Amino acid sequence: SWQYSLRPRRLAEYIGQDQVKNNLSIFIQATLARGEALDHVLLYGPPGLGKTTLAGIIAVELGVNFRITSGPAVERPGDLAALLTNLGEKDVLFIDEIHRLSRSVEEILYSAMEDYALDIIIGKGPSARSIRLDLPKFTLVGATTRAGALAAPLRDRFGVICRLEYYTTEHLECIVNRAAEILNVRIDSLGAREIARRSRGTPRIANRLLKRVRDFAQVTGDGVITNAVADKALALLEVDQLGLDKIDRSLLKTIIKNFNGGPVGLDTLAAAISEETDTIEDVYEPFLLQMGFIARTPRGRVATPTAYAHLNIPYKESNQEKF
Ligand code: ADE
Repeated sequence: SWQYSLRPRRLAEYIGQDQVKNNLSIFIQATLARGEALDHVLLYGPPGLGKTTLAGIIAVELGVNFRITSGPAVERPGDLAALLTNLGEKDVLFIDEIHRLSRSVEEILYSAMEDYALDIIIGKGPSARSIRLDLPKFTLVGATTRAGALAAPLRDRFGVICRLEYYTTEHLECIVNRAAEILNVRIDSLGAREIARRSRGTPRIANRLLKRVRDFAQVTGDGVITNAVADKALALLEVDQLGLDKIDRSLLKTIIKNFNGGPVGLDTLAAAISEETDTIEDVYEPFLLQMGFIARTPRGRVATPTAYAHLNIPYKESNQEKF
């Protein structure tokens, strides 16, 4: 099930993303007052920031059913037809990784979104005909890590487009404290702040680190997560002072050592560190860009002087021309 106990179920419980939250709240209230289905919503941004959680909250706030699927899971037009014809009036259909829908599925989604109708081709060759099937009015909530990867006609059919941002340390601290309460973990305010600070602006990471730090606190301490306990545990988990993990650092070191600081193409970089290109692009790169550790140039990725400094590698002046 998509619902694990840490996920907030209501908008009022959801911490951070204030702009997105306030806007959605208005759109939901207006929709409810009119008795309509909510316009289709596109949520985009890096993984772990709460897109699925928000989609579920939208359904709860609207008081409708929540159906969930993903781009790769909807293999054929018939799969999508089955999902859509089983929806109730005003239900929410959530499609995660919507940028990974096939062209043939995407094409029948257009009329479903715009006219609440399915155009189905029956038969083959000269006797083939198209029939139109009416659908209930529904809300599609799509989630993607890359809005740019969506075909323009699909993007244009979302009436609400929300970009999720990395969370501030303050918001993550609230999220860690909330999770600790639900999980019955004892934590003090500086312990929570340390985990928040080193979670790459990402609630999913904060909640995971909280659970792992709790393990250390339980086995090697008295069970209470203090700043010192968190710091020691995070060092053992190889999460550094700024929240970079082993793969983040390996990526930066590879650009610097193997490719003389860059520029290096994404595929070349992926091969060098044995990671998927998509994983680098969706998971690692957005945070490293945000932190100013890498920059994108027309010829590929370069490591910035900030990255050299963070890794304690002397920066050569000859690299200046890259910026
Ligand atoms: N758990 C994970 N993300 C959260 C958020 N944004 N608000 C509250 N709890 C969360």
